[in-house]
Amino acid sequence: MDTLQKYEQYVVTSHAPAMPPVEVSHAEGATLTAADGTTYLDGFAGYSVVNAGHSNPEVLGAAKAAMDRHVHVGSYLYYAPAVADLAEKLAEITPGRLEQSFFGNSGAEAVEGALRIAKAYTDRSEFISLQYSFHGRTLGTLSLGGNARRKRRAGPMASGVAMAPAPYCYRCPLHLTYPACDVACADEVQRVFDTQTSGNVAAFIAEPVMGEGGIIVPPPAYFPKVKRILERNEALFVADEVQTSFGRTGAMFASEEIGVEPDILTSAKGIANGFPLSAFTTRREIGESFLPGDHFSTFGGNLVSAAAALATIEFLERERIAEYTRQMGEHVLSVLSAWYERHPLIGDVRGKGLMIGIELVTDRETKEPAPDEAKRVQEECRQAGLLIGCGGFYGNVLRFQPPLVITQTQAERALEILDGALSAVDAVAAVPAST
Ligand SMILES: Cc1ncc(COP(=O)(O)O)c(C=O)c1O
Repeated sequence: MDTLQKYEQYVVTSHAPAMPPVEVSHAEGATLTAADGTTYLDGFAGYSVVNAGHSNPEVLGAAKAAMDRHVHVGSYLYYAPAVADLAEKLAEITPGRLEQSFFGNSGAEAVEGALRIAKAYTDRSEFISLQYSFHGRTLGTLSLGGNARRKRRAGPMASGVAMAPAPYCYRCPLHLTYPACDVACADEVQRVFDTQTSGNVAAFIAEPVMGEGGIIVPPPAYFPKVKRILERNEALFVADEVQTSFGRTGAMFASEEIGVEPDILTSAKGIANGFPLSAFTTRREIGESFLPGDHFSTFGGNLVSAAAALATIEFLERERIAEYTRQMGEHVLSVLSAWYERHPLIGDVRGKGLMIGIELVTDRETKEPAPDEAKRVQEECRQAGLLIGCGGFYGNVLRFQPPLVITQTQAERALEILDGALSAVDAVAAVPAST
């Protein structure tokens, strides 16, 4: 039996039907080599994770050194220097007054922890999240998510979650146009407080850039306006930075650039460059609100992952990766935006740093989503040697989220392949069904 057959026989995955036929051998920098010897440019970084590049020698060196001493002793059982150092480092680099961290293993676990501490601090129990959002696959995080398809056959969802319209300008839920709209979607958050909650809201949670929803970038005035509403209602702001942190958007944390300071910030994916680790980071007075025994995670703050995280952050800082990402992202976005004339499938191009989405539509007037075409472009790219993501609420957004160490030459090559793939699918899409 080969690896693909063993997956089919033995691995539980609801994603296998959509997985490209790539059997992994090894990966380095911004490339991934398959078992058949094909080397791909990696434009998705293992779901936007390996920001410091595959097999980063500094991260691997730190992890190996940690492993020579121990793998696990229980970071909430005994005092672990790597965990203390990492928490201190996060206090230094996270925005504003964020100071104390709790460590888990996955993004969802970080968000669950954030919900838990928000409840403990406020003594309230409800949450407001956004339509089109994604926060994870555990019951609590799934309940926050704004996509009914993800919740199929998983109900009943947790109670106490209300949803506000997403700041999705390309498909404005209020049918308005930015900036004339005066960010009316932010005002809707007050309406949600008034009409969908019992006034017992602990926190509002949002992604600074909405990843799984389709790389949706809220307009600059959105979060400051929402924050004023939250202050009026004495609710906390949780920035879910599981996907946007550690340089991805051209800043160490995307919330450095949204005009407000989060009360709680969740991170995962890029934190340890592929080693399983997550954190929520909060202000001291919030962090101190758990009672003894309230919260725990056996593997949370794993010592190998914590050492890898410290090395990852050191690498990202020293190499000024956020700055590099910002410049590279601006370049890629400007190239992609110029393709609008050439590729009729492109409805919208948007993003921040190297978190870039291309939304495909079959008709620019009606904005009819083109998920089949998006899948075909993704496959054309793969056949030409580039791996990219495909997602979004309608399944029609191509996602370019490579390792942040991607070189200029590699980025140009990726754009060339993408251009060719779009041309191939444009040409097929343009053929009338009757021919
Ligand atoms: C914003 C956000 N929050 C939470 C999660 C869940 O992370 P994980 O899959 O590590 O549980 C994701 C994953 O894509 C995410 O993008």
